[in-house]
Amino acid sequence: MKIGIYPGSFDPITLGHLDIIIRASKLVDHLVIGVLTNISKKTIFTVEERVQFLNWVIKENNLESKVKVESFNGLLVDFAKAQNASFIVRGLRAVTDFDYELQLAQTNHKLVPEIDTIFFTTRLEYSYLSSSTVREIASFGGDIKQFVPECIVQSVYDKYKAIGSV
Ligand code: PNS
Repeated sequence: MKIGIYPGSFDPITLGHLDIIIRASKLVDHLVIGVLTNISKKTIFTVEERVQFLNWVIKENNLESKVKVESFNGLLVDFAKAQNASFIVRGLRAVTDFDYELQLAQTNHKLVPEIDTIFFTTRLEYSYLSSSTVREIASFGGDIKQFVPECIVQSVYDKYKAIGSV
């Protein structure tokens, strides 16, 4: 059975992430979305919120039989091993992603040679898109509907209302 891990901070999930989830889920028998909890950068959304958003999106897209969402702490390769995964899935948007992604993939491969990284090039329509762009737009009350799955739009706005940003 081929199991893939799609790791990230997903703060919050974007349509670019969803596109990769859909494409990656066709390549493997099971895709585990790994939501990192111990990231050094501070997230706007709690890990529970990020996991919940992903679960809504998985449900809305009828991917529940193939895709599950888990949070993890520590090293990605340890999480991947615990999930019996043989692949790590990452998206590449532009050349600016490349250095970091190459380093990550090579380090992970050095740590656990049985686990390989597969890259999906982001579709052209999402190549500019990032969670930080979404956060910036939402924090000023701008329109994020074309950037994130519809089922999370209101919750993103609610978060910024709750923290008094809009
Ligand atoms: O969505 P992101 O923030 O680009 O995802 C980064 C992520 C989660 C893939 C990366 O930070 C990660 O794997 N962190 C876990 C710690 C780890 O294993 N680091 C790589 C070895 S140095």
